[in-house]
Parts: sequence; structure tokens; C-alpha cells
Amino acid sequence: SWTTASIVDEQVEAIREQVGGKRAICGLSGGVDSAVAAALVQKAIGSQLTCVYVDHGLMRKGETEQVEKDFVAATGVRLKVVDASERFLSALSGVSDPEQKRKIIGREFIRVFEQAQAEIVAEAPSDEPVAFLVQGTLYPDVVESGGGTGTANIKSHHNVGGLPEDIEFELVEPLRKLFKDEVRMVGQEVGLPEEIVQRQPFPGPGLGIRIVGEVTRERLDLLREADAIAREELTAAGLDRDIWQCPVVLLADVRSVGVQGDARTYGHPVVLRPVSSEDAMTADWSRLPYDVLARISTRITNEVAEINRVTLDVTSKPPGTIEWE
Ligand code: XMP
Repeated sequence: SWTTASIVDEQVEAIREQVGGKRAICGLSGGVDSAVAAALVQKAIGSQLTCVYVDHGLMRKGETEQVEKDFVAATGVRLKVVDASERFLSALSGVSDPEQKRKIIGREFIRVFEQAQAEIVAEAPSDEPVAFLVQGTLYPDVVESGGGTGTANIKSHHNVGGLPEDIEFELVEPLRKLFKDEVRMVGQEVGLPEEIVQRQPFPGPGLGIRIVGEVTRERLDLLREADAIAREELTAAGLDRDIWQCPVVLLADVRSVGVQGDARTYGHPVVLRPVSSEDAMTADWSRLPYDVLARISTRITNEVAEINRVTLDVTSKPPGTIEWE
């Protein structure tokens, strides 16, 4: 639309003016905001931008590939992918406490990001300094961090894709005046694919906070499969726009008796947590059609050995938060 196009033009102009001939880096999280911010900056300054994507091994199925292929194809951005899954998993080893998990993931992320940024500076043959850091900060983020009383203290939110606090960069924040729906329109305007622009929210700490109990590679693999099935069926049923998001949670320390094939099993339950929401501050559980729930349940228990029970979370927020940890 005319307005979206003019927002893009205005921002591109402003970014060029701010950055000049210097270089910038941007952390990509796989989420909409960092992707749109990066695409805008790419449009403005091209090869002066390098994006960094830290794969912490806690992503959902296909997510890293989506950043590596679709995002690069759509924007032509220079991308550095860091596979840090070993590092994150060993840091998380033995840890079950949700807040501790969040802190560890946030801390490791910052370390890996800083290391990547030092490598970019060392590798790139240019006299121009890397002086800018691109952030996908939205208007509601600005308002909330301005002393709001929101739910910020309930959980340590880590916008993985976020920044170290003592960072020596100047920030570029092209989405600072925009709301989420406007960000999506801008993303579309600059040519990002639908799968990226319409993505539902996904927490920075990823599947790490959807495994109740210790996070291990095996458990992540189980959850990734179950989550992919749930997403596939929700998409096939045309429900993506109706629900805000649908976390799938693995109760890794719980076991129950089941019968799969002709044999007794002693497996784990997963919880489906479909919610509707305007802004994630409050939410209601989504009244999904029974046949869709049935398909998800049948497929997960058929296709994912070790998961023998699928349950539905019918709690609103409050009192429950959207994520389980
Ligand atoms: P809760 O669980 O607090 O989640 O009701 C509210 C919304 O925030 C997402 N979420 C996060 N997003 N970093 C993020 O970028 C985080 O650490 C984080 N924790 C929760 C959650 O998916 C929901 O959309």
C-alpha cells in the first residue's frame, strides 16, 4: 500500500543517513521483527550489513534452514551462521529450573554473538568500522521497557537476537515506531516470504523452555517431531491466523503407561497449548475443533515413539502463562 511503501522509503533514507559508509551487524533470531529490520537495513546499505544467526540447537524443525535459505534468497543478505548447539547443550546439562535455563541461554547467546561479531570485524577486508547494531525493537517494546508494570518480572525474557548490555555500538532501530501488524506489512513490502512475515511468536530460548525437566538432545528431537506435526496439522486446517501460537510442551520427567501396537509402553506426555491473544499479555485457550485435535493426537502418538499421550491445556492467561516455563 501507499503508506507501507512510504514507511519503507522513509526508513531506508533514515538508515542511509545514520550509517553512512560504515558497517552494521544484525542478530537474526528467526522471528519476524529481526528479519524485517534486517531486510530494511539490507535494502538501505546492502553489503555494509552482515547478519549473524546463532543456532542454539533449540530451534524447531526447519527453522534454521528457513533463515539460511529463504531469508538469504529473499534479501541477498550476507549471513554468518554459527552452530553453537554443543555449547548450549553442555551449558544446560543437568539444569531443570526454568529461570536458570533462561539465564544460561541468554548468557551463552551473548558470548557466541560477541565472538561472531569479533570474527566479522577480523575477516572483512574493509577500513570501515563495524559501528552499528541493528535491532528489531518495536513500539510496544519501547513502551514496555519505559517503566511499564507489565509481566516483565514474571520471567526473564531473552530476546535471543538481542544485545549485550555493555555493547559499544550505536543502535539502528528501524521498527521503533511500528506495531506488529505494520511490521508484517513492511516485511511484505520489502519482499520477505509469507512464511517469515506471518510467523507466529516463538520464544528466544526456544524449545529449551518447552521441555519440563532437563534439556537433552534426545528430548529435543522428540519435541521437535511432535511440534512439527502439530504445526503441520494446524496449518492444514487453516487455523494459523486464528490462533496466536500453539506451544507443544514435553513433560520429560513424567511417564505414563500406554499401549502402542500390541505392546505396553511407558512413555512421556506432551501438552498442546493453543492460545488466542491480542498482545500475549493476556490469552485464552483456543477452542480448536475436536477433529483437528484428534488428528494431531493420533499422528504424534503414531509417529513419535516414546510419546504415548497427548493432553490439552485449557488454562487462560492469567493464571497460566502461555509458555510453561
Ligand atoms: P508468557 O509465557 O510469558 O509468554 O505468557 C508471552 C509471549 O512471549 C513469548 N516468550 C518469549 N519471547 N523471549 C522472547 O522473545 C523469551 O524469553 C520469551 N518467553 C516467552 C511467548 O512465546 C509468548 O508469545
